[in-house]
Amino acid sequence: GKGGYPFYMEKEIMEQPQVIAETILPRIKDGKPDFSEEGIPDQILKDCKRICVIACGTAMHAGLVGKSLIQAMIGIHVDVVMASEFMYNDPVVNKDTLVIAISQSGETIDTLEALKFARKCGSPSISVVNVKGASIARASEYVIYTNAGPEIAVASTKAYTTQLAVLYLITARMAMARGLWEEERLLSFMNELQRVPQVMAKVLDTKEEIHRLAGVILNAQDVFMIGRGLDYSILLEGSLKLKEVSYIHSEAYASGELKHGTIALITEDTPVVAVVTQDKLKSKEISNIREVQSRGARVVLLIKENETLDEGEQWSCVYRLPKMDDPFMVMPASIVLQLIAYFVSLDKGLDVDKPRNLAKVVTVE
Ligand code: M6R
Repeated sequence: GKGGYPFYMEKEIMEQPQVIAETILPRIKDGKPDFSEEGIPDQILKDCKRICVIACGTAMHAGLVGKSLIQAMIGIHVDVVMASEFMYNDPVVNKDTLVIAISQSGETIDTLEALKFARKCGSPSISVVNVKGASIARASEYVIYTNAGPEIAVASTKAYTTQLAVLYLITARMAMARGLWEEERLLSFMNELQRVPQVMAKVLDTKEEIHRLAGVILNAQDVFMIGRGLDYSILLEGSLKLKEVSYIHSEAYASGELKHGTIALITEDTPVVAVVTQDKLKSKEISNIREVQSRGARVVLLIKENETLDEGEQWSCVYRLPKMDDPFMVMPASIVLQLIAYFVSLDKGLDVDKPRNLAKVVTVE
């Protein structure tokens, strides 16, 4: 059942601290990432020259976070390809390309076909799948299961964050396999990963505060979501979530790209959700926020606790995220975005778990 919640989506959002723990803990031995159960040899993590992530929708958005992590920490190039487009751009993959296919259901036909093609080209492959024994799991050389449990709501939530958790594990194991990090750095990265469930729980405790933030969006026609880097990646997912369950038009925009086009669409009637979690991006992001504020937009700002903000007055809708090391801030921030989408849908009286025209598993191309 729905565990006492009105919708599965809420239940599944609330389950995240637990399922993240269930996804990471079995893969940590002596404080270090370990894929011996999965039988993944270090060699394939060590030898690849680039990575190609293949996925659709939410799973593809998880891949974008993985790309940032791996490029920053391992220093190899990562492509994230929409599976439905993969075949139409004459994909260049070979034995030096590690393919990571991400799929909650494990049955998405586009992802499956792209994975099979890459394997024919000689690429080693790992899939990240939630449903045990699914086609994509069987079609890949190795599989890492997200232990999210059954996800019933059409809009994916806990599958996404468990996919992220696996991508942190892969990044850390890759650093280990390549001898890139001192022991201390590895252990501290893994410690931070293990702190994710408790930090998520803290955010979930503030559900009612997030419900009030959702009120800013409730009657909007259009919403923009702005951020850079990792913040932009999670906003792509936050924006998809809002569209899927509330039917409000929402666009995630890389903050720096706004003035190359759509800033003219921002008016007093366009709420803007801004996420600022990365120290190195903060000042640029804040100045982009000023630009939309000067067009009258009401801004819902998600920022780390303890971050100083001047001109207190202007910041009427600020949500303070519990602090983690910057690469991990996507975890608490994602929960807030999921809950905003959920509450908007709930308050509109929509069928949150079964948005019109959407299916949980897409098995046609
Ligand atoms: O089962 P998969 O992860 O392969 O599904 C991919 C997408 O169809 C899926 O993420 C879709 O975008 C969801 N509706 C997201 O909420």
